[in-house]
Amino acid sequence: MKFFIDTADINEIREAASWGLVDGVTTNPSLIAKTRRPYADVLREICATVDGPVSAEVVATEAAAMLEEGERLARLHPNIVVKCPLIIEGLKAARALSNRGIKVNVTLVFSPLQGLAAAKCGATYLSPFVGRLDDTGHDGIAMVEQLVRILRNYGYPTQVLVASIRTPTHLLRAAEMGAHVATIPFGVMRQILHHPLTDSGLEKFLADWRATKQKI
Ligand code: G3P
Repeated sequence: MKFFIDTADINEIREAASWGLVDGVTTNPSLIAKTRRPYADVLREICATVDGPVSAEVVATEAAAMLEEGERLARLHPNIVVKCPLIIEGLKAARALSNRGIKVNVTLVFSPLQGLAAAKCGATYLSPFVGRLDDTGHDGIAMVEQLVRILRNYGYPTQVLVASIRTPTHLLRAAEMGAHVATIPFGVMRQILHHPLTDSGLEKFLADWRATKQKI
């Protein structure tokens, strides 16, 4: 399973990359806005830091303008993947960008049939938002399970990139169902590495070792 980090914060990206856990990065306009830095500068810096796909989202809502923005973003670095929202205009842009050889991540997917439509448009990735669907009282993970099954039924090459992950359990369920990629916030990435039994186990090993007064 590929792990992407869901942030535009370069310090978080560097730290998680040092753990060997970052296969790629996803950003969105909200995450970039939080950095208070120019869009292109942030994206160039991320691409220089991580050797993997970096999703950068268009902000236009009309296909021709999305296509233009997408081409501009793709010129920033060969690893840029253009993110288009799942609206009709976004699907038109996704198809046009894919036809031009630019990788596309169709984002804001909230139903399996929206996802199937994105796969039919030639998207490289599609991003179902688990946490935001949970927020509405629906079962985000169940939606992703349906989506993964549908894409497998037809052998689509589109990769399911599970997004809006809020908890380690979201990630666990995504891995169990065989989703291709999870984009994970920094905090959740850190959470999955910690276990109280690891900490107490290590403490005991070290205490026992200190008692021997030996050195390695
Ligand atoms: O990748 C999409 C993701 O950033 C959305 O996450 O937590 O804002 O729903 P969240």
